[in-house]
Amino acid sequence: MIDNSSQPDSPTGTPSPANPTSDTPHRGVRRRSFLAGAAAAAGAAAVGVVRPGSAAAAKRHPLPAADSSRLRVLVTGDAGTGEKPQYAVTAAARRLHAADPFDIAVGLGDNIYEAGPQGPDDVQFRTKFEKPNAGLDFPWLMALGNHDNTAIFPGDGGWLLRGDAEVAYHRRSRRWYMPARYYSVSLGVADFFVIDVNPLAAYIPPFLSPEWEPGGHYMTRQARWLDRGLAASTAPWKFVCTHHPYANNGPHGPAGDFDGLPDPLSGKPLKDFIERHVAGRAQFLLSGHDHSQQVLGTVAGLKGTRQIVSGAAAKTVNKPSSKRFPAKYENLRDRGFMTLDIDASSVRLEAHEVAADRTGSTAAFTTVFRR
Ligand SMILES: [Fe+2]
Repeated sequence: MIDNSSQPDSPTGTPSPANPTSDTPHRGVRRRSFLAGAAAAAGAAAVGVVRPGSAAAAKRHPLPAADSSRLRVLVTGDAGTGEKPQYAVTAAARRLHAADPFDIAVGLGDNIYEAGPQGPDDVQFRTKFEKPNAGLDFPWLMALGNHDNTAIFPGDGGWLLRGDAEVAYHRRSRRWYMPARYYSVSLGVADFFVIDVNPLAAYIPPFLSPEWEPGGHYMTRQARWLDRGLAASTAPWKFVCTHHPYANNGPHGPAGDFDGLPDPLSGKPLKDFIERHVAGRAQFLLSGHDHSQQVLGTVAGLKGTRQIVSGAAAKTVNKPSSKRFPAKYENLRDRGFMTLDIDASSVRLEAHEVAADRTGSTAAFTTVFRR
């Protein structure tokens, strides 16, 4: 068997999640029928160690095969409010899933508003993730956002260890996939690198911590791991997923100028990290944080990597675009999500808008990227 997920050593010094590398692909099984029919049985085998006392340790929805030739991906971000707008967005996604099933979702952070979870058994995982996403029964590749790492004021990103509760929750859920703070998943036609850039963009930065500070041990390990992974990837399509964007026309602004704050609160360390370790090495950078949807054009500094922002799964900014970066599509008004239909030669992206006063969604924008 080939392992199709990878994760670093426990980067925070806390116990690693339950042997996530045992989430193995299911080669030779037709993917769609497998997901529809045998997920429960196979998922049980895909869970590694069950922590004593963790009765809810889950029969995991299995990852698509490591040699998948097609993938259909739901992209959402900034979703975890548990309030009506989140439900409207997930109801719209369920309609699409019923007509043409998704294989995986990507959740681009701020998974538990406003201040992250209290621990891996926090009821917020149920009220702000499991219940709203009922029926969206496939693995959700989750990234850590600033709200998930809250210390004092919501979204300050100042208590990075709080995010470890979301890693621990990986073992308790069928759909929540976060085996480590940063990890990758290889699915044949596409590789996904879900990274944790919170130390580089927190409103309460982890200065004077040799482990967490920008340039500290954690980010150095993550950078090395990412460099190696992207260099070794042979997938036709490579996606790097972050919470904070590099380029952004919404009110948070781009890395290096986040929220008009001075360096280093500006996200300058994130700007440098993306330029050094992501730009030109992956076709796509998927990010949330700004509560809007944007498909940006060519961005200087990204060396051809395409910035996509999808952070409107529960909230909107309802502010005008800064127009700092050329956009093929942008919507800062409506809630929504994106879909990706990936095969070896193309990625078809649809941006879906969800209006407050209507059910379902409108496919407001479609584009096809070709290799
Ligand atoms: Fe955020």
